[in-house]
Amino acid sequence: MKNKTVTVTDNRTGKKYDFPILEPTIGPDVVDISKFYSDTGMFTFDRGFTSTASCRSKITYIDGGKGKLMYRGYDIAFLATKKSFLETTYLLLHKKLPDKETLKDFSLEVKKRSFIHEGMKKLFDAFPDRAHPMAILAAGVSALSTFYFDHLDIDSPDEYMEMATRVVAKIPTIAALSYRYSQGLPVIYPDMEKGFTENFLYMLRGYPHSHIELKPIEIKALDTIFTLHADHEQNASTTAVRVVGSTHAHPYACVASGISALWGRAHGGANESVIRQLELIGSVENVDKYIAKAKDPNDSFRLMGFGHRVYKNFDPRATILKNIQQELVSELNLDSSLMAIAKKIEDIALSDEYFIERNLYPNIDFYSGIILQALKIPKEMFAVIFVIGRTPGWIAQWIELKEQDSIKIARPRQLYLGPTERTPKY
Ligand code: ACO
Repeated sequence: MKNKTVTVTDNRTGKKYDFPILEPTIGPDVVDISKFYSDTGMFTFDRGFTSTASCRSKITYIDGGKGKLMYRGYDIAFLATKKSFLETTYLLLHKKLPDKETLKDFSLEVKKRSFIHEGMKKLFDAFPDRAHPMAILAAGVSALSTFYFDHLDIDSPDEYMEMATRVVAKIPTIAALSYRYSQGLPVIYPDMEKGFTENFLYMLRGYPHSHIELKPIEIKALDTIFTLHADHEQNASTTAVRVVGSTHAHPYACVASGISALWGRAHGGANESVIRQLELIGSVENVDKYIAKAKDPNDSFRLMGFGHRVYKNFDPRATILKNIQQELVSELNLDSSLMAIAKKIEDIALSDEYFIERNLYPNIDFYSGIILQALKIPKEMFAVIFVIGRTPGWIAQWIELKEQDSIKIARPRQLYLGPTERTPKY
């Protein structure tokens, strides 16, 4: 069969150029423009990469129109309700779900590697009180290469898989320490008896020599949030990881760059904005006023946690979290004014023409913000939670980059609009 192509005509010259069409297993076809410049002498322009596929990938598939999200072919609802975050992590890193025995071994390996080098504590000591945990986390992950200088050969699959497991295992410990140090709280070491998510909550909330009661629903809620964040195709932080990886930097540096990219309020900071907005609204009586502001074309106010660039029907992750939120509310008898405000906003937005016409549904951040608040997780830790969830995705994407035949360094071009050559005055 003849290869499919798309023909581009240069209207200035009438010259025609053919570009190959690449076919995915599912999703839109992709035009290969890698020879566009050498063939036509022109660059293409795609601000924000809204129409550009930057890599071949077998990890995550999203259909925003249908509200579909899959990791390695498994629907997100199946993974989030039937599998743990650690099983999902294994799936992302090793391309298949673990059987019982494999999961046991993987879980033990992650537990054993969850401790950090004692010398790293000096690094945490150096940060001033109230330093943002995301800054400490990025520095801590970057510093891993200085404390663990064995297994740093990024061309050896055994060694980079070692690094991969190490990052996944240590991120929650570094994340919890980032918070404890920022607040001047005593350090809590990982507990080998506890599972991945339980251990993180314990390190965040515990106190030395005292028992802390963690309810199964709290662990389940956070574990689900981790799973729902585990990967999301070529988003900004994942793209940062791949771009840095394309220079042959090691995974610790790549993950640190992902953390920095995720810190921005347009990415990992959105669920924190949801809670800050609910606090600003202040009471159920004020909701109507703020809904009117959100609908006013002359007002820049937007309802945080509503709408999504990719999901234009519904966000499948939000549907799952809505159920978890309901379970949490009934099991923990939660009844806060913020929840009441959130409920009223959700009810209005789901029935109001303005939001329906524009496909503005609650997104994952709306529910994750409310759930994290109910789990008593401090707001400055919300983005950190996102990092813990997204780490296996970043690493899976890095591994995929490594496993390609050859890595091409990421080097986009530009539309130059600066001055033409100026004549210097001597
Ligand atoms: N509240 C009120 N109106 C909104 C909202 C909102 N949250 N979001 C979009 N709109 C309106 C716009 O004003 C616009 O109206 P118009 O057609 O009358 O001009 C219309 O809906 C389309 O909006 P766009 O900005 O074009 O939609 P886009 O897909 O570009 O934006 C975005 C998506 C950025 C997420 C937007 O919906 C938004 O700002 N939401 C609030 C912030 C938020 O929750 N971000 C987290 C996203 S999820 C994530 O990143 C994990």
